[in-house]
Amino acid sequence: MCGGDDGHGKLYAVPGRRHLTFLPLILVAALAGCGDSGLSPEAQRGKNVYLSQCTSCHAADPSQPGAVGPEVKGASRQLLEAKVLKGTYPPGYTPKRRTSAMLPQPQVAGDIPALAEYLK
Ligand code: HEC
Repeated sequence: MCGGDDGHGKLYAVPGRRHLTFLPLILVAALAGCGDSGLSPEAQRGKNVYLSQCTSCHAADPSQPGAVGPEVKGASRQLLEAKVLKGTYPPGYTPKRRTSAMLPQPQVAGDIPALAEYLK
């Protein structure tokens, strides 16, 4: 019986070489404030109104469906007046949705032409 005692538990304390590479993250937020130079002043104003009043439900890009509301690109002035001011639709217009979740937004009454200019 060879009771070999090999109990020399060696703890190899490997020096923790942590290769931490710090990659500088350069986030250039260059998207704000530029572009859209093609918009007329009226359309730009409409865009500002749209972004501040409508994008809680509609997408920031009006050609896309939003969180709640449908796409509104191409909405005519008549449609905007009816839907945004009164919650109705122009005669003969087929709504994109049958719901009436959107409350009238009378605060933008003076901005309908600008909105129409932006969305057209
Ligand atoms: C509370 C969320 C909400 C807000 C804010 C909102 N909308 Fe809407 N909108 C909707 C929903 C939902 C519909 C779909 C019909 C419905 O349920 O009323 C809609 C429908 C529309 C339509 C009709 C689309 C079609 O062709 O059938 C237009 C145009 C429109 N919205 C424009 C606007 C504009 C412009 C603003 C900002 C002044 C605005 N909406 C603000 C939710 C909203």
